[in-house]
This record gives sequence, C-alpha cells and structure tokens, in this order.
Amino acid sequence: MEIIRTPAEMTAWANQVLADGQTIGLVPTMGFFHAGHLCLMRKAREKADRTVVSLFVNPIQFGVNEDLARYPRDFSRDSQLAEAEGVDVLFAPEAQAMYPPEASTRVIVSGVTEGLCGASRPGHFAGVATVVAKLFHIIKPHCAVFGRKDFQQLTVLERMVADLNWDVEIIGHPIVREEDGLAMSSRNVYLSAQERQTALCLFRAIGHARRRVRTGLVEAKVLLLEVEALLQQEAVTIEYVSLVDQATLQPQAVLRKGTVLAMAIQVGATRLIDNDNLFDD
Ligand code: PAF
Repeated sequence: MEIIRTPAEMTAWANQVLADGQTIGLVPTMGFFHAGHLCLMRKAREKADRTVVSLFVNPIQFGVNEDLARYPRDFSRDSQLAEAEGVDVLFAPEAQAMYPPEASTRVIVSGVTEGLCGASRPGHFAGVATVVAKLFHIIKPHCAVFGRKDFQQLTVLERMVADLNWDVEIIGHPIVREEDGLAMSSRNVYLSAQERQTALCLFRAIGHARRRVRTGLVEAKVLLLEVEALLQQEAVTIEYVSLVDQATLQPQAVLRKGTVLAMAIQVGATRLIDNDNLFDD
C-alpha cells in the first residue's frame, strides 16, 4: 500500500490509474479505524479496480467547542489495517496542504443541512462538503463509500453531487454495530464502561420504534414521545429525536416507508448519534 501525503502526488497517481482505464473507489475517513471503516473499504474494493482511503481529521468541520484537539488518532495502526484490507493508497495530507492560508472557498449545501445535526453544529456540513469536494477533485473517484450512521452527511453529499452534476456514485453502507447494538464510531473510545452501557439506550429506542411500526402505529408524535421517554430513563441529554423523510430530512407527521428515526444524545461529555430507516427489512 502506498502512503501519499500531498494533493499533487495523489492527483498524479489518479491520473495514471485513469489513463490505464481503471476505476477508483474512495473511502473518505478521519481515521482511528474500527470494523465499520473496514467494511467501507471492502465495499469500495468490490466496486472499483483501485481503492483509495483518505485519512484526514478535517479541522473545518469541527466547531470551536468540539473535539478536534482530542479526536483519537493512531496512524500506524490505521495504515496496517488499511493495508490488510488490500487498500492501494492511504492519502493522509497535512492540514496546511489541504487549506493553505489563502484558501477561502466553502461548499454550502442548503436545506438538508439545516435541521438535525446542522441545527447544533453550525458550519459543520459546509466543512464536510468542502473537504469531500476537494477529495473528489484530488482523487477523481468513480464511487465513494460513506457509512449510514452519519445519515444526514450522506444526504448532504448526495445533494451536493446531484446539484453539481458530479459523476461520482455515492454509496451508503449500512450501519455496522457492536454485538450489543451500539453503532460503531471512532468516538466510542471516549465512553467510560458505565457510559458505554448507558449509550445502549439508542439501540433500545430503535428496537422499540421498529416494534411499534410493525404493530401498525402511524402517528409520529406518539412515537416521538415514547422514544423520548425511553431515552430519558437513562442519564443522557437529548439533543434531538426526529422522525424525518429519508430524502428531504423533513419531519414526518405520519410514519410511512422512508421514515427515518434520527437521534443525537449527549452521554457524559460524548455526543452520540444513531438512526434507523424504520421500514427497511
Ligand atoms: O464521516 C467522516 O468521517 C467525515 O465527516 C468525512 C466524510 C471523512 C469528511 O471529513
């Protein structure tokens, strides 16, 4: 596996691959890999001839009081894991190479960025869309794989490529969970053993919502109250619990195919998100 550190070298590699008539699959990440990331890498390998994983803790998607400085990092472990997955290139640029001092462009996607996580993280999705747009230009992928845990991010990036007529296939990979149901996240390392148990309320809430939908509940406001009550049994602070349409992210009054339960909570100092498309098998 090659490790590439500069955008110019990365683009030179991509140009060569394209000139050879091969396709490129990209997995954008911020590193500290877990089994979920490895599934994304496998998916990219299935979909394209060559696989690039980007590892970049993108400073512009973190708010001032967020965890940029303490975001978990372990480059040597990450590079071993990516290599073992058969990744061709690990692209790990420095922040200065991605954002030289004169850089002053942001990609702003409106509408779908406004609710859910966008409401409490102003500027976050502009940071995500900007870095992903840059990665797409640098790496020239045919497809890019993202986890559905960041369900709003996936919707925002689908909107961006559609709006900009960008010929990149965006692939959403199902959430990968620990055996007890906790959605895998690099941030799970922040949780104490007690908080780790508390965090399972998210998965219990999803189970409850799925059961209610299966037994015919259609009123979103009833389900919202029930899910909130279930989460409030634990020592968590609810940031949001919403039932939204998967494409528009607009709140739904009536539960129907395409309705997603999306939740963000704070457990101790850690913010966790989870979601479920309630009518999927
Ligand atoms: O999901 C993430 O890890 C990040 O938001 C992404 C897509 C790599 C952009 O920095």
